Amino acid sequence: MNILLSGGTGYIGSHTCTELLNAGHSVVTFDNLSNSEEKVNDAVVRITGKPFKFYLADMLDMDALRVIFEENTFDAVIHFAGLKAVGESVQLPLKYYHNNITGTLNLLSLIEEYHVKSFVFSSSATVYGDPASLPITEDFPLGTTNPYGSTKLMIEQILKDFYAANSGVSISILRYFNPVGAHESGEIGENPKGIPNNLMPYIAKVAAGQLEALNVFGDRYPTRDGTGIRDYIHVVDLAIGHLKALEKNADTTGVHIYNLGTGTGYSVLEVLRAMEAACGHTIPYKIAPPRSGDIAACYADPGKAQKELGWAAERDLKQMCEDAWRWQKKNLNL
Ligand code: NAD
Ligand code: UFG
Repeated sequence: MNILLSGGTGYIGSHTCTELLNAGHSVVTFDNLSNSEEKVNDAVVRITGKPFKFYLADMLDMDALRVIFEENTFDAVIHFAGLKAVGESVQLPLKYYHNNITGTLNLLSLIEEYHVKSFVFSSSATVYGDPASLPITEDFPLGTTNPYGSTKLMIEQILKDFYAANSGVSISILRYFNPVGAHESGEIGENPKGIPNNLMPYIAKVAAGQLEALNVFGDRYPTRDGTGIRDYIHVVDLAIGHLKALEKNADTTGVHIYNLGTGTGYSVLEVLRAMEAACGHTIPYKIAPPRSGDIAACYADPGKAQKELGWAAERDLKQMCEDAWRWQKKNLNL
């Protein structure tokens, strides 16, 4: 297949690009590099041995997007591009709505015009808000608590409306749980700018001595050790989920929604211990107040993806930490 990736130099985009190339697909990516670097493309070529076309383009720039669709023919588009920092979205809601929503509308208008039949969208478990019970299935009630989450929910609705008017297309909405880890080569991984917001990259920087101590946000949640529980999923497993979604899209039409998680939740302290085992030394931490907007626990029922896509996560927490640590060590100067 010929596949376009928006946000292709980003964390999940670069891992998916790698898996697509390894599977023999032809890939074109674009990114405005607002949260990634062009050298990621060289790393993907080093891993796969396969070149691919990259466009430096902003999805808010219709002319730049049109050039990509004019110069190539696509069987499918996987849409990763977007801003994703929850806290920043509260401070700068208009920036988030404009970038994520308008960008998606631009992309969809070209998909319609150039008759691309298959679309895969990066949604998030954040659309479930604070779930009433666990594990979470795809038919749970939806609701969000921040503008970032609202952009995901709005785009999901836009995609349903888009399908209603374009009944020949096939759309997969993938609700990711907590992607972590890195490619086992250590060539690509998560490279957040500034101080990380998310747990795993923060712990990795503490383990490397670049940050003083992990702040554990709350130890009084109604969980087994009082700290927050999440469904961490290895980014390579997540990437492979996109290949399975493309196969499903090729066989059908409609809007398909899947949780991509492992089905197992780990607490903050359990992740900390697993990372200590991976790096071979203790990692300092202190208990801090709960972070505003955080929920106690969140993990997926991934049964629908297993049944309909034939996909299940295979990499465990140990491997997530080992791969994250290998990436961190290789990139101490990032
Ligand atoms: P990322 O920031 O590493 O990648 C997103 C890429 O999109 C970046 O390279 C950025 O430069 C690019 N981008 C942003 N706005 C753009 C624009 N206007 N034009 C062109 N490129 C633009 O993030 P990621 O972790 O790889 O996330 C990919 C997608 O998955 C995002 O949509 C994100 O919201 C979603 N998601 C991520 C997580 C997570 O925890 N990482 C969880 C759930 C969903
Ligand atoms: N945590 C800490 N200290 C930190 C960072 C996080 O204790 O320095 C805790 C949080 O309180 C939470 C857990 O670690 O209990 C995970 O936090 P993350 O920030 O890594 O992840 P979240 O579950 O808050 O959110 C992530 C993405 C969202 C996405 C959501 C669901 O950041 O964009 O997963 O996919 F919507």
